[in-house]
Amino acid sequence: MRVIGTVAELQALADRERAAGAKIALVPTMGALHAGHLSLVDVARKRADRVWVSIFVNPTQFDSADDLSRYPRTREQDLQCCRDAGVDVVFAPECDEMVGSAGQTWIEAGEPAQPLCGRSRPGHFRAVATIVVKLLLAAKPHLAVFGEKDYQQLAVIRSVVRDLGFDVEIVGAPTVREADGLALSSRNVQLHPEARRQAVALVRALDAAEGALASGEFDAARLLQRATAEIEKAPLARIDYVELRDAISLGPVAEKLVNPALLALAVYFDSPERDAGRAVRLIDNRVLDPRRAVSSR
Ligand code: PAF
Repeated sequence: MRVIGTVAELQALADRERAAGAKIALVPTMGALHAGHLSLVDVARKRADRVWVSIFVNPTQFDSADDLSRYPRTREQDLQCCRDAGVDVVFAPECDEMVGSAGQTWIEAGEPAQPLCGRSRPGHFRAVATIVVKLLLAAKPHLAVFGEKDYQQLAVIRSVVRDLGFDVEIVGAPTVREADGLALSSRNVQLHPEARRQAVALVRALDAAEGALASGEFDAARLLQRATAEIEKAPLARIDYVELRDAISLGPVAEKLVNPALLALAVYFDSPERDAGRAVRLIDNRVLDPRRAVSSR
């Protein structure tokens, strides 16, 4: 496995691989790799000859210096994980290589970047879009794989790639979950054990809304109530948002669901002990399809 630190070196390798007819898949990550990332690697391997993983904690997409400094960094473990998973190349640039002299040029991501996390985390998606474009220009992959857990991020990246005419296929991969249903996330390790126990409220909220839809509840407000009630059972949970959005455009949904809708959750989990660490913000989502609910009744 090669570990590459500069854009120029990665581009040169991409040119050679492409000239030799190899199909390259890129899996962009911020490290702290877990089974969710490895599932992206598996998807990449099924579709390409070469699997490249980028590991770069993009400082511009964090909400605060505190959030950035708390993000787990596990470089040696991550490299071992990639070796074990048969990754061909890890692109692990230093910060200067990616954002050093830059900061002048930004990709503004438009409509899909406005609601949900776009509202709670101003500037987040333009930072993600900018770094992803830079990664695509560096690795020149035929395809790039992203997790559906970050559904809005995936929607933003698809729209940027479409609008700018990038010759790359964007592939979404299903969310991987713990045995109790909690979606895998690099942030889970920051949870206090009691908050971790309560965080299962997220998947319960998704299940409750899905169950209600399956039994004939199409009213968006009532579906949201079902989801919210599950989260409110967790005393350490503080809701950032619980929203239904059109699954394609991320625009508003009708009062009664007719098209597939994204149920999106963002919830802070506090620590039960004072000064024992700050709140951890988790997201999760599920697409609710009223058409499937109708046909299965
Ligand atoms: O999903 C992530 O880990 C990051 O947002 C990404 C896509 C690697 C960009 O920094």
